[in-house]
Amino acid sequence: MKNYNIAVLKGDGIGPEVIDAALTLLPVIEEQYQVKFNLQEHLIGAISIDEKGVPLEDEVIAHCKTADAILLGAIGDPKYDNAPNLQQRPEQGLLKLRKELGLFANVRPVTAYDALLDKSPLKKEIIQGVDLVIYRELTGGIYFGEHGYTDDGAAYDHCTYSVLEVDRILHLAFKAAEQRDKRLTVVDKANVLETSRLWRKRAQVLSEQYPTIALDFLFVDNAAMQIILNPNQFDVIVTENMFGDILSDEASVIAGSIGLLASSSLGNGVGLFEPIHGSFPQGAGKNIANPIAAILSTALMLSYLGLNEAANSVEKAVNQALEQGVVTPEISGDHKFGTKQVTQFILDCLAELEVESN
Ligand code: IPM
Ligand code: MN
Repeated sequence: MKNYNIAVLKGDGIGPEVIDAALTLLPVIEEQYQVKFNLQEHLIGAISIDEKGVPLEDEVIAHCKTADAILLGAIGDPKYDNAPNLQQRPEQGLLKLRKELGLFANVRPVTAYDALLDKSPLKKEIIQGVDLVIYRELTGGIYFGEHGYTDDGAAYDHCTYSVLEVDRILHLAFKAAEQRDKRLTVVDKANVLETSRLWRKRAQVLSEQYPTIALDFLFVDNAAMQIILNPNQFDVIVTENMFGDILSDEASVIAGSIGLLASSSLGNGVGLFEPIHGSFPQGAGKNIANPIAAILSTALMLSYLGLNEAANSVEKAVNQALEQGVVTPEISGDHKFGTKQVTQFILDCLAELEVESN
């Protein structure tokens, strides 16, 4: 029987409950596919600061490096948000984990689900058929440049990109486009920023290796508008760290809720899978958090582990929940179903899919 070691980092706010929801699916997968998941839990974020004094312990990083995959919930607590002089922040744990594990590519798929077309604040005709993916650079740029204060009290955050950092994610994005609709959009601010001009230059150079891909460029301000005006024009979007952070939250409106968006973070070693939503502390413990982003992140993890059929079943089960209106309050507008009920429904669908395939 194939064994997989999964590091589980539930984190803060709704992180634990959405990851618990996702984990309930694993025993069903184990039985259906004759595999075994060995889960090992660790702390990250605010809870780790509270209990261990640091947002991420070195032992946790070391263990994550040996795992086959990492499943992560969410990071952040409001008690740290408006305290500008703190030395320790929950987010540092996540940034450190991404950096130390070399997770340079964050892949964020955005789909308009037919069942939810009426739920988006955007017009149905505009979002119908959207199937795009954002490749966000995750270990460079302004997030990881030098931060600090000058002697006269000005603050700075430096943005740097090396050719290697740009090339490796561009290659992944070109390759993704080859498997999809063969269109790649580089989003930058090349009319102002030198780093963006490097991105543009490298994309032009590398495009010679990908002759089937239609490459185009958009300034980030225009891209923010185009994602809302005409999202169907996009197939693969590739962009730097901060632009990708912002645009992927924006693009989640197309899906109908940020609570639906999953992501994979990939590099040279182990892959990490996490919802794109934050810790939503106001919603924690209220049985209202949408478990689907965590469940779809688990599906991404399954396919990363080579369990493609299992991943497809999980996606099918999620679709059934969406189609039958078994969705959490931020989508339904009422409190008919909570985290637990949506999870149970998906679990039942998954178990039934097994019966059908046997
Ligand atoms: C995300 C989050 C993180 C980021 C935060 C929590 C540091 O917003 O994964 O999108 O900005 O990358
Ligand atoms: Mn974000």
